[in-house]
Amino acid sequence: MYETLVKALRSLPSDAKEAIVNHSFIAPVFLKALGFKPEECFPQYPTGKGADAVDYALRHNTDDDIFLHTKSHPYILLELKGRDKDLSEGSASYTSTVKQLKGYLLAPNCKTVQWGIITNSDYIQLFKKHGKVIYPASLCLKITPDNVGAIVEDIKQKIENISRALTVAIYNNKGGVGKTTTTVNLAAVLTLHGRKTLIVDFDPNQQDLTNSLGIKPAKESLYSCLEDKNNRVNLNDLINPYIFKFKNLNKEFKFDIITADDKLFEEREDKLYQIFKLHRFRQVLNNFKNKYDYILIDSCPNWRFFSQSAIYACDVVLIPAKHNNIFSLKNAAVAIRKFIPEIQRIRKDGSPIALPIFFNGEKITEAQRITAHYGIDSIIEQARKDRDNKFDLLPYFYPRFTNATKDRYIFDLPSYAHIANTAFERIPAAYKYKIAYDYYINLAKEYFLQ
Ligand SMILES: Nc1ncnc2c1ncn2[C@@H]1O[C@H](COP(=O)(O)OP(=O)(O)OP(=O)(O)O)[C@@H](O)[C@H]1O
Ligand SMILES: [Mg+2]
Repeated sequence: MYETLVKALRSLPSDAKEAIVNHSFIAPVFLKALGFKPEECFPQYPTGKGADAVDYALRHNTDDDIFLHTKSHPYILLELKGRDKDLSEGSASYTSTVKQLKGYLLAPNCKTVQWGIITNSDYIQLFKKHGKVIYPASLCLKITPDNVGAIVEDIKQKIENISRALTVAIYNNKGGVGKTTTTVNLAAVLTLHGRKTLIVDFDPNQQDLTNSLGIKPAKESLYSCLEDKNNRVNLNDLINPYIFKFKNLNKEFKFDIITADDKLFEEREDKLYQIFKLHRFRQVLNNFKNKYDYILIDSCPNWRFFSQSAIYACDVVLIPAKHNNIFSLKNAAVAIRKFIPEIQRIRKDGSPIALPIFFNGEKITEAQRITAHYGIDSIIEQARKDRDNKFDLLPYFYPRFTNATKDRYIFDLPSYAHIANTAFERIPAAYKYKIAYDYYINLAKEYFLQ
């Protein structure tokens, strides 16, 4: 079935320019092997951002809508390079091509796009887009005649499967930085904005999330689901709703919760690894991927079984930190350059990735901000110089920084006393106080909502 793909690949010169790669490989065989007919592929698709056009936009036709004619609702973008550009991971042209693709994926005409591909026929990588978030859905793979069929098949399977939810672990190895509060209030505002949301209390030692909303344990425990490898447990019995009625609007909003589990808390650490393995929690959550828009996991402040399983289960990691607590910043750096790559090495699909850190819940003066930047600059510098594990932390601390702008912007979720108080009232602050709502909707817009 993939013979034509192999043949076309073999006939490509090793220094083939973009036009050759396009005419001999991408247009005649690759797009077809991915399952797209010619009228489902739009070359030089205008993304709507200035004059920028991406090499291809793809979408399957429906009965009355031929993509090549209507140009509406693109589903996949493909940015093509020639073999004269090195697209191996970490090279300068890889970095600039990923940046270029991300720009297209977020462009005005591409809101419906869910996948992005970069390739030069020598290397290829698939990315997933969910709202504003773009994360790798495969490693950057070297294409050979031997593996090209398997690579295309794998991409095809991924893009044909609907994977609705973005799974986010809210994590920092440092305690008390606002992980639980962020999880609850983010769920609250995403729900208000029509996104179906599930939150998971995966900090069984503290169970703060379960307690802060006053939720009773569900019919089935997470323990029994993790243990149940033969799908005997009805997963719906694992879910508890949290319903909030806005009396003055006569409207109610609901998000779902998987509550904390005493039995998990009581199990010995070595036993947990033995019985469940690291990937088991991900397997359980994958059953919910098509029912929700967001799955948020409240994680523990350590690097042990539960937090490792949470990071293994997620697509992206959201890291709250405190500007005035250097440990929370150093721990964020350790999570980004050590813990998350540890899980990436096991997962082998390029994910999860860290989102840029944010400051949570502390007042901040200009002088304090400058002090925080000194601390962060030195953390970045040290990671760059580290002989054993050179790592560029800059985009994870200063996402807007370029050599031209030197913009040290970090998203700040301000302190607000009522955010802490509402935990006792079992209501997300974002539902009770307009100011808290504003803070958390800004967070949701900064990171997630397009
Ligand atoms: N923006 C904020 N304004 C005011 N108080 C906040 C804010 N964010 C969090 N808090 C308060 O800070 C405290 C710690 O927050 P939280 O329990 O969410 O942290 P955590 O990281 O989950 O802690 P742990 O590591 O123990 O799980 C809580 O009392 C919470 O109400
Ligand atoms: Mg917590």
